[in-house]
Amino acid sequence: MRFQAVKGTRDFYPEDMAIRNWIVKSWRDVSLRNGFEEYDGPIFEYLDLFKAKSGEGIVSELFHFKDRGDRDLAIRPEMTPTLARMICAKAHSLPRPIKWFSTPRLCRAERPQRGRLREFFQWNIDIVGTDDVVSDAECIFVILDFFRQIGLTPADVVLKINSRSLLAALLSARGFEPSRHQEIYTVLDKRDKLPEDAYAEVLGKVVRTDREKADLRAIVQAHGENGLNEIAGLVTHDPAATAEVELLRRLFGLLGTMGVADYCTFDMSVVRGLAYYTGVVFEGFGKAGLQRAICGGGRYDQLLELLGGPPMSGIGFGTSDVVILDLLAELDRLPADARVSKRVEFYVIDADPSRFETVLDLVARLRSAGYAAEFSYKRQAIPKQFKQASAVGAKHAVSR
Ligand code: HAM
Repeated sequence: MRFQAVKGTRDFYPEDMAIRNWIVKSWRDVSLRNGFEEYDGPIFEYLDLFKAKSGEGIVSELFHFKDRGDRDLAIRPEMTPTLARMICAKAHSLPRPIKWFSTPRLCRAERPQRGRLREFFQWNIDIVGTDDVVSDAECIFVILDFFRQIGLTPADVVLKINSRSLLAALLSARGFEPSRHQEIYTVLDKRDKLPEDAYAEVLGKVVRTDREKADLRAIVQAHGENGLNEIAGLVTHDPAATAEVELLRRLFGLLGTMGVADYCTFDMSVVRGLAYYTGVVFEGFGKAGLQRAICGGGRYDQLLELLGGPPMSGIGFGTSDVVILDLLAELDRLPADARVSKRVEFYVIDADPSRFETVLDLVARLRSAGYAAEFSYKRQAIPKQFKQASAVGAKHAVSR
């Protein structure tokens, strides 16, 4: 019987592994130069951690199981609840702001499709312990710094920014009670993810009248500077919403100062599916082809308190190897260097088969001195060995 890899998972042959390492290294380089420290957690957690904190969208996509002690556990579908749990455990001893990153392997029981698999690597950037808008700007700068590093320009990608609390104010002003907001967010988040008729069906389940349906469609249409100005005009009676408009304006100003405003735009349709977001939310999209979000994040004001920690606000985002590689493939921008799975400095030529030991001796010395050195097990003619040396990409061919 022959087995195949499970649907939605990947085998990483050496060339695939080289590409994965290239992307993870880029994430790590960008994180470190932006002042973030690396952390990790367990690959499974108590199921309740996700049930309580992530919301319906993710819970329906969990791989969960019981351990021998009949405890309900789940493979991590995202990192944020683990991050929050870890910070809660040491909240009083960690210097703030906490700027941490990780690159975990995650699993979601999604229907595999372009840009979405059932197992993937996700880069997480989070800043916890401050709600200063400068941290929103810094967090957003990091993902754009990464896009720039891998050659994605504002002509290729756009980062759409919104605020959940502003959206909540607009919903309340149109008569949607706060108790209904969460289910409305979950549905609005599906707007670009479902075909038109499937979206109309889920929307139909949360709205009560045609008027409500029209109101929701109108609210999420606002975008760009004009859209933000229009909304500012609609919320003048609401000081909290007006302050949130001002915060967004300041955020766009800071992103301008940091030289990345060209990537960014205001867009009321960005809602985010996860339950814990409260303030600024954002999602990145490829401008051509790939429809699904290539990154997503936002501010969470209550997550740590919900887990029994002190009140601490945080902001962060996630992006995955799958979406980034799909986008780079689509644009034909994956650098050739990213595919190199073997890096050989010296290829030691066996010039005299009667003295093969000298080859082994030199190879061993080079390796001990820290150089990558290769040789052939077979006794071969010298031209063949040169061919082999260039086939493995050796920088030098040497012999004794
Ligand atoms: P998310 O929107 O669920 O947010 O995922 C963030 C990103 O992870 C997506 O934009 C996409 O790039 C990638 N992603 C999600 N699901 C899959 C999948 N099935 N296959 C491949 N890639 C996928 C979160 O996970 C939040 N925890 C992010 C965050 C960090 N918020 C604050 N801090």
